[in-house]
Amino acid sequence: MSLRGFKRRHLLTLLDYSREEIIRMLEVSREMKMLYYSGVRCLDILKGRTLMLIFEKPSTRTRVSLEVAALELGMNVIYSNPSELQLGRGEPVKDTIRVLSRYVDAVAARVFRHESLEEMAKYGTIPIINALSDKYHPLQALADALTIWEIKGKLSDIKLAFVGDGNCNVARSLIVIGSKLGWEVRIVGPRRYWPDEKLLRDVQEDLKKSGGNIIMTEDLEYGVKNVDVVYTDVWVSMGFESEAEERIRELSKYQVSMEVMKIAGDNAIFMHCLPAKRGQEVTEEVLESSRSVVWDQAENRLHTAKAVLALLLS
Ligand code: CP
Ligand code: NVA
Repeated sequence: MSLRGFKRRHLLTLLDYSREEIIRMLEVSREMKMLYYSGVRCLDILKGRTLMLIFEKPSTRTRVSLEVAALELGMNVIYSNPSELQLGRGEPVKDTIRVLSRYVDAVAARVFRHESLEEMAKYGTIPIINALSDKYHPLQALADALTIWEIKGKLSDIKLAFVGDGNCNVARSLIVIGSKLGWEVRIVGPRRYWPDEKLLRDVQEDLKKSGGNIIMTEDLEYGVKNVDVVYTDVWVSMGFESEAEERIRELSKYQVSMEVMKIAGDNAIFMHCLPAKRGQEVTEEVLESSRSVVWDQAENRLHTAKAVLALLLS
């Protein structure tokens, strides 16, 4: 496995990575997965280095996949929530990160405000990895692309319908990776939940280069027809709890049911970043059906996390 030539840097959003770099991350993820299944789980690529995780919000997949990935690469891991650090008593992010840069080799952070990550990136001298912010979830998008590649046998020419909150972190990161890889990403939901103008401007150049396309529609039937992937995420993301009632009301027409999967066509798989709210954005039947690949997606979080750490830090 060659890890050479990859620039050591932050991963706040995949907007900062080229199509070639993203494909490289996915290729290394596949190699990590092959090694894992051939019995080689532990590699000493990053022996003696330390990864720090700072999570302002709960996490199962991101936290555990990053921890296991780091441990299997030979790293030490420190986990903390901000309330256990002086951050919780008001020490500025910019001070905290300058200190941590002197102790650890990378920080993966899950934050309410994407700007907190930008501040860490500005003042820190170590790679900062976005473990989910209100704007982006790049580690999820990489695992999703790997899953699609494995199941569909291709990385480009994919039609993906994201149903529901099209401006949430997961949808936005799918738009970014889809624009790099040349996908048709359809955002299907009420106009109020379409991605913001800035994001659409940010991906224009990549769409031109890749031949990808972003479609936004309120028409569920039109939106999911003949796609490769139907994807959804919770209607109430972490940090948006105060809007729960109106979100559930406004998005309720957009539940992914077996009927929706039927309109999508026989080739369509169902994806969800998890955790899922059964009975809201997706029915139990779809989530548990043979069309659902959510457990493969979740597994791929580990292999992609390994690839990201190995490429960014070695
Ligand atoms: N998909 C995802 O990021 O899950 P967690 O919130 O459990 O990390
Ligand atoms: N959009 C969801 C993703 C959880 C992994 C949230 O931010 O809560």
